[in-house]
Amino acid sequence: MILKIGKLFIAALIFTGISAISVSAFASSGASLFGSEGCIACHAINGNGGQVGPNLSHIGSQRSLSWLKTQIINPGAHFASGSNVTLNGKSYMAIMPNHKNMPASKVDAIAEYLESLK
Ligand code: HEC
Repeated sequence: MILKIGKLFIAALIFTGISAISVSAFASSGASLFGSEGCIACHAINGNGGQVGPNLSHIGSQRSLSWLKTQIINPGAHFASGSNVTLNGKSYMAIMPNHKNMPASKVDAIAEYLESLK
């Protein structure tokens, strides 16, 4: 019995360790930042996310990495705030918030993730 509990305990410790490692790797990935930084509230990727902004499932085939970084930091550089913009045949009100205070490492990770979506 004690042996069994001991094994279980060790198994639980190992499992906790593995999940902690994979969670921290995942947390810094562009895909998870897309969720944790709130992009997903307005943008869908592969059927998951909001409709306020354009669907980004294939954005990497339309925009360059540097364009994507600028869009995250300062969308006003591309679309006049409050104006109507047509993207992929759909009309949107340009209300994307800027992310001027987002650390460059996060901007880069999200932009690289988006650029990979072909
Ligand atoms: C409150 C809603 C909202 C949030 C939050 C938001 N966006 Fe947007 N996004 C928009 C809208 C609306 C547009 C259309 C143009 C604009 O507003 O600048 C847009 C445009 C874009 C585009 C250009 C799409 C195209 O077809 O060229 C990209 C890329 C983008 N957003 C990425 C992001 C990322 C990455 C985040 C998170 C860091 C984010 N957005 C957060 C609403 C949002």
